Amino acid sequence: MKKQILTTSDGASYPILTGSGLLDTCGAEIAALTKPCRVMIVSDTNVAPLYLDRVKKSLADAGFIVNTHVVSAGEESKSIAVFGALLESFAEAHLTRTDLAIALGGGVIGDLTGFAAGCYLRGIRFVQMPTTLLSAVDASVGGKTAINLQHGKNLAGVFHQPLAVFCDVDSLHTLTPHEMADGAAEAIKTGILGDPELFAIYESGNPIANLEEVISHAVAYKSKIVTEDPQEHGVRKLLNLGHTAAHAIERLSDFKISHGHAVAIGTAIVTRAAVKHGMLDSNESARILDTIKRNNLPVHCPYSAKDMAKIAALDKKAAASDITVILPEKIGRCRMEKMPISNVESLFSDGLEGQE
Ligand code: GLY
Repeated sequence: MKKQILTTSDGASYPILTGSGLLDTCGAEIAALTKPCRVMIVSDTNVAPLYLDRVKKSLADAGFIVNTHVVSAGEESKSIAVFGALLESFAEAHLTRTDLAIALGGGVIGDLTGFAAGCYLRGIRFVQMPTTLLSAVDASVGGKTAINLQHGKNLAGVFHQPLAVFCDVDSLHTLTPHEMADGAAEAIKTGILGDPELFAIYESGNPIANLEEVISHAVAYKSKIVTEDPQEHGVRKLLNLGHTAAHAIERLSDFKISHGHAVAIGTAIVTRAAVKHGMLDSNESARILDTIKRNNLPVHCPYSAKDMAKIAALDKKAAASDITVILPEKIGRCRMEKMPISNVESLFSDGLEGQE
């Protein structure tokens, strides 16, 4: 079992546990952090049949009063309607300020539950229990929560740090190759940003056989960044490598292209653009593109620079007339580049040139 602690500059501090068996021991782990209280476990129609009963039992055995709320699996659940129903469910179960929500699932469940916990009674505590690799290496850590609006992805949300994160690595073994690849995209992103050892696992190692190592590398890097900049005023923007294009790709595909796959394409776009702008060596670029492909992820973008740029202008990462884009300089180092939104189309266009 690996225990990492994330302490932010604005005073939050919480444990991130990664290991085998946590679905059954989470009750005792949570009881060590808070007195027994009411809990609402939020899960989805894919995850609940697999793990909900075990988590319920573990919590009940530790003295918690357990309620559950299951939503449909998929990005559609990050909606105002599902969010509203979840808040009503918290109220129906009489959750008070000292009670707890638990997000049992992937990034959608973490984002939805975290946002509801951040708003209900002006904020109650919540625990993240990621059951996807994507959520374990990125979304469950750092306190970003959100739902989507008609106008774009993650446009309504709050920063709300969890009480704890528990990732039972056994739950990752039921993931499909597509879901594993989604997680690989965020882990490769982290490697490019600042962890060449993590990149090497995906470039030439066996990530599936080393999931605990992958997660602890990704959590260590993300914790370092979030500690310094919990609310994304500066250095946390780095974590958006590939994401400006990715969010546009997800929208243009009507969310048929999943987040991780879109991040892979977005990372390929900024990688090619960085070479064109003389920031990145073509050898490093080839290594990045090959590593993305080696992990069953796409590097080809099916949309035009113009269509993606239109959507990027609505992205919440755009501030007034500027947007910060992240460009790789080498494997393990990236730079933030603030540019007028009007330049994004040409950056995307550079990143689409020469794609396979
Ligand atoms: N997923 C990027 C972040 O948490 O900042």
